[in-house]
Amino acid sequence: MNRKVEDYIKSIFSQNPSVIANPTCYVYDLEEITNRIGEIEKYKLKNVSLYYAMKANPNLEVLEHVLSHKIIAGIEIASIGELEKARSIGLTDNSRVLFTGPGKTVQELEESVKSGLRFINVESVVEAIRINQIAKKLGIEKVNVLLRVNINYFLDGAEEYMAGKSTKMGIDQARFYEDYEVISKLNHINVCGFHVFAADGVLDFNVLLRYTDFVFRFVKEAEKTVGIVDVIDFGGGFGIDYTKSGKYFDTKAYFKGLNELIKKYSFENKEFILELGKYIVGSAGYYATQIVDIKDCKGMKHIVTAGGVNHMRLPIATDRKHPVYIVEMGIPKLYDKQTEVSNETVDIEGPLCMTEDKISWDEFIKSAKIGDVVVLTQSGAYCYSASTLWFLSHQMPLELIIK
Ligand SMILES: Cc1ncc(COP(=O)(O)O)c(C=O)c1O
Repeated sequence: MNRKVEDYIKSIFSQNPSVIANPTCYVYDLEEITNRIGEIEKYKLKNVSLYYAMKANPNLEVLEHVLSHKIIAGIEIASIGELEKARSIGLTDNSRVLFTGPGKTVQELEESVKSGLRFINVESVVEAIRINQIAKKLGIEKVNVLLRVNINYFLDGAEEYMAGKSTKMGIDQARFYEDYEVISKLNHINVCGFHVFAADGVLDFNVLLRYTDFVFRFVKEAEKTVGIVDVIDFGGGFGIDYTKSGKYFDTKAYFKGLNELIKKYSFENKEFILELGKYIVGSAGYYATQIVDIKDCKGMKHIVTAGGVNHMRLPIATDRKHPVYIVEMGIPKLYDKQTEVSNETVDIEGPLCMTEDKISWDEFIKSAKIGDVVVLTQSGAYCYSASTLWFLSHQMPLELIIK
C-alpha cells in the first residue's frame, strides 16, 4: 500500500465524522485507475477496442472516471440496471454499450433492442429467437449481435472459468453449427462476430495467447459457414496479483503476441474487443475496517473488525486472501491487560454471528491493536457490489474516493 493511500485512510478514520460513526469503508484511488488504463493505451493495437466491464465496480464516480478516458470505447453491461446506472451519469450514446450475460429476460432484451445497443451478445438460440421476435414487433430491420461460444479449450491458469467446460455461458462449440442453422434463418438478426470470454483472473499473458490461437482457428473454420465476421470479443480476463509478490499482467507482451496471431490468421481487418473489469479497477480499491476487539481464545487470537463478509465477501467466496496491511491509529488502551497482536498468525473476522465470517485467515501480523485499521488491498473489483451487504442489517460500508 502506498503512502498516499495510507495517509488518506489514517486521516478519514481520525477526522471524517461519517467514517468515525461507521468505521468501515471502501476507498478508490482514481489515479491508479488512470495508470491501469494508461498501461493499455501505451501498447494497445489500433484494431483493439477497450470497453469497461462495469460489473467489476459500478460505483458512479468510478464509472464516470473510467469513461472520462478517451480510449474507453464504452461499457459492457450484464443487466439493464447497469445500463440505467450508466445513463444516470450521462452515458446517453447507446452505441457505446455491449450487453452480455446468460438469462437476459424478455423485458431486458426488449429494452436493449429498442435502445439500439452496439451489440447484444447472444447466449443461446432461445435468446436469438426472442430478439428476432422483438425486432419484428418493433419494426426494427436488423439487430447487431455477437454469438457467444463456449470454446472447446480449457484455459488453464485462471481464477474462474466461464467456458472450456460445461457452463451456462454461450453456445457449446459442439452444437455451434446446428444452432447456427436456426439463427441464420432469423431475418432480423445480424451476426457480426463472436464473443469468446472464457476465464477471469489470468496473470500470465501466454495463457490468453494460447487460447486466442485456438479461438482464431475456430473462427477461421466457422467463417466457411457464417461468412467473414467483423468482430471478435475476448471479454475480460486480465488478472491482478493478490499476493505481495509483485507479479503483473504484461500488457506489452500480450499485445505483441496478439499482433503476431492476427497476422498469422490474416485477421487484420477485424475489430477485437476487450471488456476489462478487474485489470482496470481491481488494484485501485482498498477495503478498510476498524479493529473493534481482539480476542485470545484457546491458543489463537482473533481480530474482530467492524465489517466482515457482509461488506467483503470475495476472499471467503474465492478462498483467496487479499494482501493485508494494518494502519496504526494509536488509540489508548481501555485497560492494562488488553489483548494485542504482536508477530502472530491470526484470523481477521467481522461482526457476524457465524464462524465463516472471515475477511482474512492464517495471516501473520506484526502488530495490531484495538482501534487500528485493517486494510485489504486489491479490493476495487467484485468486492463491494458482490458482497451480501444487507446481511444482519449492519450499516453499509461507505465508498470514498481519493481524487
Ligand atoms: C461477459 C464478461 N465480460 C467481461 C468481464 C470482465 O472480466 P474481468 O473482470 O476478468 O476483466 C466479465 C466478468 O465476469 C464478463 O462476464
